[in-house]
Amino acid sequence: MTKVKRIGVLTGGGDAPGLNPAIKGLVYRASERGIETDGLSDGWLSLLNPPFDVVPLERAKVRRWDRDGGTNLGSSRTNPFQTPNESGERIDKSSEVIANIEKLGLDAVVACGGEDTLGVAARLSEKGVPIIGVPKTIDKDLAGTDYTLGFDSALRNVTEVIERSRTPAGSHGWVQVIEVMGRHSGHLALWSGVAGQADIILIPEHPFRYEKVYRHLRDHLGDSTSHPRDPQHPRYSVVVVAEGACAEDGELIITDDRHDAFGHARLGGIAEVLARRIMSDTPYDARSVIVGHPQRGGPPSPVDRIMGVMFGARAADAVAEGDFGKMVSSRGIAPACDLSLVDISMVLGKIDTVDVARLYDTDRYHLKGLGM
Ligand code: F6P
Repeated sequence: MTKVKRIGVLTGGGDAPGLNPAIKGLVYRASERGIETDGLSDGWLSLLNPPFDVVPLERAKVRRWDRDGGTNLGSSRTNPFQTPNESGERIDKSSEVIANIEKLGLDAVVACGGEDTLGVAARLSEKGVPIIGVPKTIDKDLAGTDYTLGFDSALRNVTEVIERSRTPAGSHGWVQVIEVMGRHSGHLALWSGVAGQADIILIPEHPFRYEKVYRHLRDHLGDSTSHPRDPQHPRYSVVVVAEGACAEDGELIITDDRHDAFGHARLGGIAEVLARRIMSDTPYDARSVIVGHPQRGGPPSPVDRIMGVMFGARAADAVAEGDFGKMVSSRGIAPACDLSLVDISMVLGKIDTVDVARLYDTDRYHLKGLGM
């Protein structure tokens, strides 16, 4: 095995708190093992477009990064296997990426990302590029790991929005519908709904029925939330809906149907659709809010700091040992967690979604077993 001397690290896809702690963990442990780290800007884009935007990452440079949200390296949703040329046609430029890794004198690449970024990493690994993946996404939908960086901070952010929605909703007697990210997986909606004690939680894994939502609202709120109020019932209700949730007789609501390089349209708008339906079909007034990108914002939570530095350090060890083609994986979540390496190809073609049979009460639209 030839000794690894220099590696490049990049962050791709949606930003997430926990990425900067991971970079710090990587740089510290790599330097301890005699490896230099270069930061590559803006995800896979950095390896496609010379002049290359490369930042040498020494310990002193990243010393404070554990406290920073987002990614200090920048990010993009670039897919080297589907790169638009001058005429807008998407072509495979992966061989340029491979050549540029060599040109930059990098012995290996550490890619931090979700199914798209790590999907590219897996395909480059198949082509012989020495690669390690670090799992990140607020959606927590990556196969092969219990934890993905950013999830816990997003949970904190959404819970805070639910909490802050209570005073306006309670003062005015609204049904407050709160839309949460997560694409086709409902982890963030489900667990933020539990943390914020929402009355109804709608997830992509189980198409909902409007009539059932109305029935739950009626059970919760009584006949009316307007004056004079029924003291036996709460004055308002909170509904958490995942952006990818869909009614049985409805369709996925899309905010922008231009597909990105990985084939994704931007989801969004189901909260407003639901709020309008509640207003037209029930006696209740309703409001909607899309939490949007701030749910990925702010400093990393303690869990994301711990998992970040541990994931980064584990990636550095994998590099030092030449154990390529792997993704850092966690069984459990800090502090009760065990890290290991899994084959990076595990992320290809599948996502981890909520286990409906085990966790979701399809009658009450809530976490099973809570009596909510
Ligand atoms: O995958 C992370 C995520 O935040 C999804 O939950 C969401 O659907 C998507 O990214 C939003 O994409 P963008 O950041 O391009 O608006």
